[in-house]
Amino acid sequence: MDTKHIPAHIAIIMDGNGRWAKQRGLPRTDGHKAGTETARAVVTRCRELGVRHLTLYTFSKENWSRPKEEVKTLFSLLTTFLTKEEKSLREQGIRLKVLGEIGDMPLGVRQVLKHVMRRTGDCTDMTLNLALNYSGRDEILRAARALADKGLTGEAITEETFAAELWTAGQPDPDLIIRTSGELRLSNYLLFQCAYAEFYFTDVYWPDFSPEELEKAIAELGNRQRRFGKTDEQLA
Ligand code: IPE
Ligand code: IPE
Ligand code: MG
Repeated sequence: MDTKHIPAHIAIIMDGNGRWAKQRGLPRTDGHKAGTETARAVVTRCRELGVRHLTLYTFSKENWSRPKEEVKTLFSLLTTFLTKEEKSLREQGIRLKVLGEIGDMPLGVRQVLKHVMRRTGDCTDMTLNLALNYSGRDEILRAARALADKGLTGEAITEETFAAELWTAGQPDPDLIIRTSGELRLSNYLLFQCAYAEFYFTDVYWPDFSPEELEKAIAELGNRQRRFGKTDEQLA
């Protein structure tokens, strides 16, 4: 893999677990379980490739409206995943961060999240952001309220002061957004941060997404010209 064009920040919408399971005559929860294996492999490959920030859309605010049993399974899989991966995350130098309000999550999940965040707090090779209980609009509103609470008005409200109140404060904007399963939408993901992201959509369901698929997405990014409003000539 050409490592010249490794994006600093990749954000993934891990979609299609349910359909993957349905295709096999399995319960949706089996799809979520298989999806955690994919997540583990993708985290490791990103780290190996030198991606500095990886964000995984793990549970949206809207996902609370799913059947109670499914929500329970999702949190239980997350708890198992984090408990099992803590040591490996540390060994790989990966710092865990949560984008979203963890106060609203079940106690057991909150505890394991806090524990792993603490244990990996000094890791510096890669930041793994889990967007959990996440809503992009909500994040924007929250930032606006934070600025208001600090008494910032008028000119003091800039892209920088605003971005500093987002869950991703201090991290670069995503260069690449990947969505699996053939859906062509953002589903309330990183609305502020996506301003100049490149999008990569694939029909592959998340449990079938592999490190090779990830490399395909990164390779495609290398073939694109990011212009940021400029002309070809200016960039030449
Ligand atoms: C993504 O897979 C996982 C979460 C949203 C938590 P889905 O569960 O959305 O799978 P589909 O879209 O129903 O196939
Ligand atoms: C987005 O997937 C959220 C996550 C991947 C966690 P959804 O499956 O919830 O999105 P919609 O409902 O199809 O837009
Ligand atoms: Mg879905």
